[in-house]
Amino acid sequence: MTEELTVVGCGPGHPDWVLPAARLAVGRCRVVVGSARLASLFPEFPGRIGSPDGSAAQLDLALELHAAGERVALLVSGDTAVCSLASKAVACLGEKRCRLIPGISSVQLALARVGRTRAVCTATLHAPDRLDWNPAEVRRLGGLAVLLGRPGLHPQLGRIRDELGAGWRTSIARDMALETESVTTWDGGEIDTSGLAIALFLREGEGP
Ligand SMILES: C[S@@+](CC[C@H](N)C(=O)[O-])C[C@H]1O[C@@H](n2cnc3c(N)ncnc32)[C@H](O)[C@@H]1O
Repeated sequence: MTEELTVVGCGPGHPDWVLPAARLAVGRCRVVVGSARLASLFPEFPGRIGSPDGSAAQLDLALELHAAGERVALLVSGDTAVCSLASKAVACLGEKRCRLIPGISSVQLALARVGRTRAVCTATLHAPDRLDWNPAEVRRLGGLAVLLGRPGLHPQLGRIRDELGAGWRTSIARDMALETESVTTWDGGEIDTSGLAIALFLREGEGP
């Protein structure tokens, strides 16, 4: 019987945040597929990692190798449960044929950096353009994290700000765990929304 496809959450992108369980899971696979950025987190497995461009190509390669009977690890960024390629792998194979190894999400790290101790809603502007979020749920939890990653998204962020109204603080968390990491307050002006970036909308005055 074919092995499960192992989908490994690799954390926000620095080796310090790769869990030992992720290294073990990668170590027991014969082939590894993931972006060059994530592959560089596993220098102990040279020559075993395939890095085609783009997440769709990576998923296709992992599925193809898995179907051929290989023991495959698919590397995904952050956690497998936050806006992850893992969901596409599970949609293709079913949850019984995938083994998910969770990781530290970039959202978790961004929340920790601003001292937030409770969960928030998450949404993505990664693709497509439409933002799927539930203002009532965001108000209930008092927080929303929007995954960015493409230029020119500040008008959408402005619409979220307008919808939430007064009493919310917006921060942009960029390059979490990397040397260039920053968390800055957003005042509503034009900003760079490309690259590894998250917008945090947190209600003011209710503690972390
Ligand atoms: C496909 S989603 C994957 C999210 C991932 N599953 C997680 O839990 O962090 C990719 C988006 O996550 C965010 N992201 C990933 N790594 C990041 C980092 N180190 N710093 C800030 N944002 C990051 C960016 O918004 C990026 O466009």
